[in-house]
Parts: sequence; structure tokens; C-alpha cells
Amino acid sequence: MKNKIKNIGNAKVTIGTESFELPIYSGSKGAPGIDVRGLHKASGHFTFDPGFTSTCSTESQITFIDGGKGQLLYRGFPIEQLAENSSFLEVAYLLINGELPNAQQNTDFKRTITNHTMLHDQIEQFFHGYRRDSHPMAMLCGTVGALSGFYHDDAHTTEDESRNMAMHRLIAKMPTLAARAYKYSIGQPHVYPDNSLSYAGNFLNMCFSVPAEKYKISPTIENAMDKIFILHADHEQNASTSTVRLAGSSGANPYACIAAGVACLWGPSHGGANEACLNMLREIGSVDRIPEFIARAKDKNDPFRLMGFGHRVYKNFDPRSRVMQKVAHEVLDELGLKNPILDVAKELEKIALEDEYFIEKKLYPNVDFYSGIVLSALGFPTSMFTVLFALARTVGWISQWNEMLEDPSQRIGRPRQLYTGATERDYIPMDMR
Ligand code: SDX
Repeated sequence: MKNKIKNIGNAKVTIGTESFELPIYSGSKGAPGIDVRGLHKASGHFTFDPGFTSTCSTESQITFIDGGKGQLLYRGFPIEQLAENSSFLEVAYLLINGELPNAQQNTDFKRTITNHTMLHDQIEQFFHGYRRDSHPMAMLCGTVGALSGFYHDDAHTTEDESRNMAMHRLIAKMPTLAARAYKYSIGQPHVYPDNSLSYAGNFLNMCFSVPAEKYKISPTIENAMDKIFILHADHEQNASTSTVRLAGSSGANPYACIAAGVACLWGPSHGGANEACLNMLREIGSVDRIPEFIARAKDKNDPFRLMGFGHRVYKNFDPRSRVMQKVAHEVLDELGLKNPILDVAKELEKIALEDEYFIEKKLYPNVDFYSGIVLSALGFPTSMFTVLFALARTVGWISQWNEMLEDPSQRIGRPRQLYTGATERDYIPMDMR
């Protein structure tokens, strides 16, 4: 990666009687950033930004979000066009390499991924250490981290070939791990990967086929699954991607870094929101109970939030939720399912978007609002929703991890703090406490 940020002038910071000039850098799109790397040395001051709401942690050329316009670009291509015309593996190639693959590159990449879909047989034993009712995300966290104990040749993060092998193995094995966690949790025998199937088809087959009868893959469902993976592939420096970058900045093993990303994604404020959102829609249950929940979401004293609504960056529609809404209709029509929860979701969206509170706080449906409905219609239990999110986001995590390691300006991440604890004091002997 070549650094491409450009100095477009200086910012002047005045503290007391002293002034300091800080360079302003701009990228190809989006807000410029004031470079504060020299601030502490020059002024003895830090910046203070809990939650990093106004902080660029890195330069990146992978994904761009315009929260005001509701725009999401993967290497410059709008998410709507990729969801319509591309495939998840083609998007994976794009995110890693920066350009769409030509026919030969596409064939070679698909073959490479296909040839790494199986797990080392001893990984099997890790699953049997879990209770059957363990959350599948707990199993994914543990088994992704465990991969670091099996592929020592991938740990040399300074070597391109080693990094590429780790990236390919992770893309290839996440569906197998995810399906294995699901089968283990429902007490069914696991199904080996079938290299004659597509990436999404192979995943569906590993989840839903049983030794007693073949699983017939519906092209509509296979296409919907692939689209859902595309929509979840990457999203700038979100919490879990920042976790992967921070872990990777110390040179940690790539499988351990992705396990850290899985752990962070699990939270209900982040990737766990799809599971929380469907549980919320089920709790609402019918359209006439929506006002009660809207009132709770607006009540400052009630910690309840409308799951699937709001976003740190999007202050307009999350473009992924619009595509996901379309996929929801395609899947439900294909399956001939009438899903009352979809009616509740549509009515909740309509009421919330007309409500002053949501308008003023710019709270729109995000990617998690409809995904739960689609995944539930596909036959997945809610406990598997964030696992599917992690499966898809692995492509974004490894692309960002790789970009970080190739970034010449990259250093180990080490934020500072404003300390408000006890100032220096002497030890107090026990008999004087
Ligand atoms: C994902 O970062 C990414 O890119 C993430 C993601 C990705 O692809 O990686 O897009 C995936 O995580 C999507 C978000 C999924 N989470 C949810 O749906 C959970 C519900 N949403 C919220 O918890 C919240 O909106 C966040 C966490 C998504 C964003 O939180 P912020 O940016 O820190 O905003 P905030 O919590 O400061 O809220 C601002 C105001 C607050 O009111 P005030 O204190 O200003 O009076 O809006 C209110 C909040 O109370 N608010 C909500 C709300 N979300 C924010 N009120 C009711 N319901 C909500 N959902």
C-alpha cells in the first residue's frame, strides 16, 4: 500500500499564549483530518475522543461510507451494484486486491479458496468441549483462535506469501467452522465441504443437508445468501475491524486477530444487533404494540433501544438495509412464507421514520434491521445470525489487516488517557486501614 493522503494546509491550535501549527491531510473522498501526531510533543497535550467519534485511526483505500448520502463503496464500487451484479468471492478478491478480477483471476481465486475449505481433523475435538447449548458465537470465537495452533507457516506476517495463505484459509474455513458450530448446537452430524458447490451453496449444504437426505439448493436462496455475505463484507473502521487492526498492529498471529474481531462483533450494539433486532420484533409481536416500544426507545430512563436502528456514521438510510429489504421479499416469496414479523418490521420502520425523535436524531434502519427476518426465513436460528455476519466480515477484517501490515506508516496502536484516579500516596499498613 502506498500512502496517498495529501497535505492541504495547516490548522492553528492556540493553548494559552502559545500557538501550534498542525498539518491538515485530505484523502480522495470524505472529510479531511488534522494530523495530531506531533501535538503532545509540541504542546504537552493529548486529544480526547472517547469512542473515537472524530478520530481517523488510519489511512485506508478499501471502503468508503458517506453517512449523509447513505453511500457505501467497496474500492469505489457502490454496494447496490455489487449486490446486483457481483458474487461474494469476486467481492472478496476486490476488497483484498483493489480491483475486480478478470476471468482467469476469478477462476484461480475460486479454486484456491475451494481447496482450503476443510478443517484439520483435530479441530473437531474443540467443538466437543462445548456444551450443546453454547452460543455458536462462543464456538466460533474459540475455534477461529484455535486455528492459530494449526497453521504456523501463516504466522510470518511480514511475508506476503504467508499473509496470503492465512487470508485464503480464513475465507475458506469460516463457512466450515460456522456450519460446524450450527450442526453441533442442534445435535446433527457435521457435513464436509462439497467442492463442486458455490461458496454460498456449499455453506447452505453444510448447514442444512443430513446424511439421510440430500439438501436441494434453491438458486433464489443460494443467491440471497451470497448477497447477504456481500452486504456484510466490510464497513470502514467499525468496532470489530478496529479490534482486528489493533491486535494485528502488534504482529499477532492472523487467526488470533480474526478471533478478536469475532469477539468484538458479538456485542448487541454491533454485529449482535441482528439477533437482538429479531428478538425485539418477536417481543413486539403485533403492529398494535409498536407505539409502546417506540415510547420506550424515546424514554431517557429506559435503557431500551430500537435494535436495528441508528448508526455511528449513517445519518441517512443504511444502503444495505434497502437491499436487505428487497432480499427479504424475494426469499419470503420464494418460500411462500407469510411472515407477520415482516409486517411488524415494515410498520415499525414507517412509524419510526415519521417520529420527531428519530428524525431529529437521524436514526434510520441499519443493516441489521431486515437481516434477521431473511436469515430466519432461510431457516437459521437467531443464535446463528451474528455467526453469519462474522463469516462475511472475515473478508473485510483480513483485507484491512493486510492493508495495515502493508502500510509504511503503520505502528503498534497504543492510545493514551486522561487519568482521574488517585494521585501518588504511600502504602498503608494493615493495622492503620
Ligand atoms: C452495526 O460501525 C459500523 O459500521 C457497524 C456496522 C458494520 O457494518 O460494521 O454497520 C454494523 O453494528 C450496525 C449497528 C447495529 N446496532 C444496533 O442496531 C443497536 C441499536 N443502535 C444503537 O445502539 C446505536 O445507534 C449505535 C450503537 C448503532 C450507534 O451509537 P452511537 O453512534 O454511539 O450513537 P449514540 O448511542 O450516541 O446515540 C445518539 C442518540 C442518543 O440519544 P441522546 O443521548 O443524544 O439523547 O441517539 C439515541 C441515543 O439514545 N439512539 C437511539 C438508538 N440509537 C441511538 N435511541 C433509540 N433507539 C436506537 N436504536
